[in-house]
Amino acid sequence: MARLAVNVDHVATVRQARGIEEPDPVLAAGLAELAGAEGIICHLREDRRHIQDRDLRLLRETVKTRLNLEMAAVDEMVRIALETGPDMVTLVPEKRLELTTEGGLDVRSDPQRYAQVAQRLKAGGILVSFFVDPDPAQIEEVSTCGGDIVEIHTGHYAEAKTEAEAVKRFQAVKEAAAAAHDLGLLVSAGHGLNYLNIKRFKELPVVDEYSIGHSIVARAVLVGMERAVREMVALVKDF
Ligand code: PXP
Repeated sequence: MARLAVNVDHVATVRQARGIEEPDPVLAAGLAELAGAEGIICHLREDRRHIQDRDLRLLRETVKTRLNLEMAAVDEMVRIALETGPDMVTLVPEKRLELTTEGGLDVRSDPQRYAQVAQRLKAGGILVSFFVDPDPAQIEEVSTCGGDIVEIHTGHYAEAKTEAEAVKRFQAVKEAAAAAHDLGLLVSAGHGLNYLNIKRFKELPVVDEYSIGHSIVARAVLVGMERAVREMVALVKDF
């Protein structure tokens, strides 16, 4: 049965917009867990635009399910991960000017570096996930680099403008998930998933975990965090 992991970055985005102390992503994480989330995710960006170092430390102290730190594969972040000890790390590409993560990591561009980062994290007892496009060549490289988990980038699927485009892009996600599963990797999926477009994943039982942020926080603004999470958990548990 699939699990839902909730990304609380955009609770911090609202806080940072005012430069004060609320809303608190740590409280949001606790409410998400009470509502059935089985993981909490935060992305500590190099520019600290939403999640701050203190949030990460507090999340490490309070998250009772599984804490997943999204980060760039750079020395500063590897050091922070090893000091803080999240249960898992997801390696993502990071560009200063992007509004959100725009594409999967190009693991093939520098496999030696990624293998070395994965090895350092794993030596610290941290599970390593790579966020990649639904591209079988990238997925094979994740396996070669020692990744434990592959998170398939679902953003292109989520942005499809027509049903035909959605079907085609979902097929790519499906094939990528099957390839990852065949290589013995655990499979996650995320980016741009919402209460409607996630329904197609019922066809894809190999996905172990969904990583969802924006649509849940957006709904939470209107109906509250617990209800927003409960409604997404109900969808995921139906797969
Ligand atoms: N997975 C990864 C690797 C991400 O970078 C993000 C966005 O922070 C998500 C999942 C969640 O995407 P969304 O906020 O669109 O649900």
